[in-house]
Amino acid sequence: DWTTGNVIEEQVAAIRAQVGDRRAICGLSGGVDSAVAAALVQKAIGSQLTCVYVDHGLMRKGETEQVEKDFVAATGVQLKVVDASERFLGALAGVSDPEQKRKIIGREFIRVFEQAQLEIMREDGPEVAFLVQGTLYPDVVESGGGTGTANIKSHHNVGGLPDDIEFELVEPLRQLFKDEVRMVGQELGLPDEIVQRQPFPGPGLGIRIVGEVTKERLDLLREADAIAREELTAAGLDRDIWQCPVVLLADVRSVGVQGDGRTYGHPIVLRPVSSEDAMTADWSRLPYEVLSKISTRITNEVTDVNRVVLDVTSKPPGTIEWE
Ligand code: XMP
Repeated sequence: DWTTGNVIEEQVAAIRAQVGDRRAICGLSGGVDSAVAAALVQKAIGSQLTCVYVDHGLMRKGETEQVEKDFVAATGVQLKVVDASERFLGALAGVSDPEQKRKIIGREFIRVFEQAQLEIMREDGPEVAFLVQGTLYPDVVESGGGTGTANIKSHHNVGGLPDDIEFELVEPLRQLFKDEVRMVGQELGLPDEIVQRQPFPGPGLGIRIVGEVTKERLDLLREADAIAREELTAAGLDRDIWQCPVVLLADVRSVGVQGDGRTYGHPIVLRPVSSEDAMTADWSRLPYEVLSKISTRITNEVTDVNRVVLDVTSKPPGTIEWE
């Protein structure tokens, strides 16, 4: 009988058997999968688990707090937060090319995460031998089904640890589909904002700023994005759309008029899409009143934005994200 209760019970037993009295590490991304995987492992082994959250400064408004406060409150998990926003901004300075940005963000992420892992491993206590991952059933099928170990090569030399650390993987979601993961998360008492969260790319807002990524631009985009999300939620549309990237065209300016004068500001793009699996997508036919409200609020409330445009491209030919 498939019930969330049974799944949780089975996985808790399996995790206990696998980990024993050793320790495990889990990276949290703010997404559903890593959150549910961590919550399951926490339920099974409690303080033998340490979670790591790398704050790259590219998250949306409130998301880091959701992990730091709400997730910790709901699970009681031991969390190590690394504020690396300065480091990411530094590495991204002067870079506009999308692939370049993705590479830099991925590289820095691994470096910061590994550094945090090494610090955890140096703490007193039993050996840290496990890495928790939120691998889902569709990922297992796609990659041919093997389970395994993660070979983490260190870029930094932190004294007293081997250069190559081998972790055994703990993957408690390997038999589950996305909707089942959400149900398990709910049963485990995770907040709706985490369990029902729409997809969000790992490189975050870094790939939603067309042009160079700067602190000012991120702050501006965070405001515009928060308004769009707020209004979509208020209109009850969260379940109808797959996701709605909000994009800042930082390298584009257009003329506008606001209050008592001419403006020369940036456009914000709304990219609401409907999709089954993100492989293909269609642009969502959002109600005009909702679009109008979002547009009015963004241009009124976000400095330097004087235009809101709607992306009406399907995928293909457009991708969901702009970069
Ligand atoms: P595209 O833009 O390729 O996006 O149509 C398809 C889906 O994948 C998400 N996406 C990412 N997710 N890391 C992620 O974890 C990434 O680098 C990344 N790039 C795109 C995107 O939000 C959409 O749901």
